[in-house]
Amino acid sequence: MDQHSPVYLVGGPVRDALLGRPVKDLDFSVEGDAPALAQRVAAELAGKTIVHPRFGTATVIAGGTRIDLVTARRETYTHPGALPQVTPSGIRDDLARRDFSINAMAIPLAGDAAEVLDHWRGLEDLRLGVVRTLHDCSFIDDPTRVFRAIRYEQRLDFRIDQQTLAHLKNSVDQGLVAVLSPDRLRHEIQRILEEENPAPAFARCLDLEVLQAVHPALNDLGKLQRLAAGIGDIGAEIEAEIPMVYLAALVSDLSEQEGEDLIGRLNMPEGWRRIVRDSIRLQGMAAELNDESISPSRLVRLLEDVSVVAVAAMGLTSEDAWVNQGLHRFLTELRHVKPGLDGRDLLQLGVPPGPLVGRILGRLRDEVLDGRLDGGAGADAGRRRLVQELMADTIVGPVGAEAIGDAGHG
Ligand code: CTP
Repeated sequence: MDQHSPVYLVGGPVRDALLGRPVKDLDFSVEGDAPALAQRVAAELAGKTIVHPRFGTATVIAGGTRIDLVTARRETYTHPGALPQVTPSGIRDDLARRDFSINAMAIPLAGDAAEVLDHWRGLEDLRLGVVRTLHDCSFIDDPTRVFRAIRYEQRLDFRIDQQTLAHLKNSVDQGLVAVLSPDRLRHEIQRILEEENPAPAFARCLDLEVLQAVHPALNDLGKLQRLAAGIGDIGAEIEAEIPMVYLAALVSDLSEQEGEDLIGRLNMPEGWRRIVRDSIRLQGMAAELNDESISPSRLVRLLEDVSVVAVAAMGLTSEDAWVNQGLHRFLTELRHVKPGLDGRDLLQLGVPPGPLVGRILGRLRDEVLDGRLDGGAGADAGRRRLVQELMADTIVGPVGAEAIGDAGHG
């Protein structure tokens, strides 16, 4: 690396390495031009670089590893919740601008011995298991640190230092969480959702009235806790979406209006919005889903346009065993059932093109789901007979004229 620009491993990876925890991403602080160094690193590793020249930061992505490089800087805040004013500086200032002592340590890459730069008693706090800010205004400067303190405390099984906790509570009382922009707030919620087990961090947020500052209706974490206990049973297909399953469990007891308020408060992207709306809608179907006489075809018709993530969340958190079983069966088996014929087959059997094709396919699938037709494919006698009957019904029945009319337009 550039001999004129000292480089330090800094923050999270130093903390995790010292704790003997797996190190995910690498963060470096450069006393010099971090984006320029990033370009050279990317060239050597045949990776890609994303540069943010305004912030003097860059990310190198190479072989599945993410390397963040920042230009060592001093930061000042004009008002709570604002993004900081940044001036390039040395590693000492770069450590002093950080959130907690356990994140304010660095290891210089040059030099023979791996010495740890620790101006803020980070090593001692790691040993004691303490999350401690570097100064009294830390949460006022950056209220996202309220969430960060809670996240590290719960993830590492540490405790927030007493004075730090007093400042944290003070900033919550002063309404500083509400000052955060929707996007920054959502980012913090997302980072909790991505924790291996988000339930304790949300519980602590509730305890400290941080969650209520996001939305007052987020006051019951029973589902989230049940989900955390049962998450091992989530199917492989949905595993990659576990953070979103937690989101579904977090919001499912909200009213529609509360859900819409939360969507706005966090400026949720489309994917999140769908999960929130579907999760609340699904909750409204709870009584019907809990009816033991519900047929597989009815189950599929109820659930097929609901997000799979919301279904998985309800399946793992409902207190009704019948609902758990039904949703599990829907996810693992029923939603994959096919009618055995496709649209082209129906046209060959004389069905006129148009909406009738879709309706007959739906009926065929219902019959397979409910066991009145076998699950095989092809125009066997049973399927042909049913298609003819459905066509005849449609043509002569009272709804038929309308259906054929639709088909004619199709
Ligand atoms: N940081 C900070 N204040 C913030 C955000 C970040 O001081 N509001 C500093 C901390 O030193 C942190 C580093 O920037 O260690 C990198 O931030 P981030 O990637 O969010 O944290 P990690 O420590 O890597 O934590 P995680 O393991 O949760 O990814």
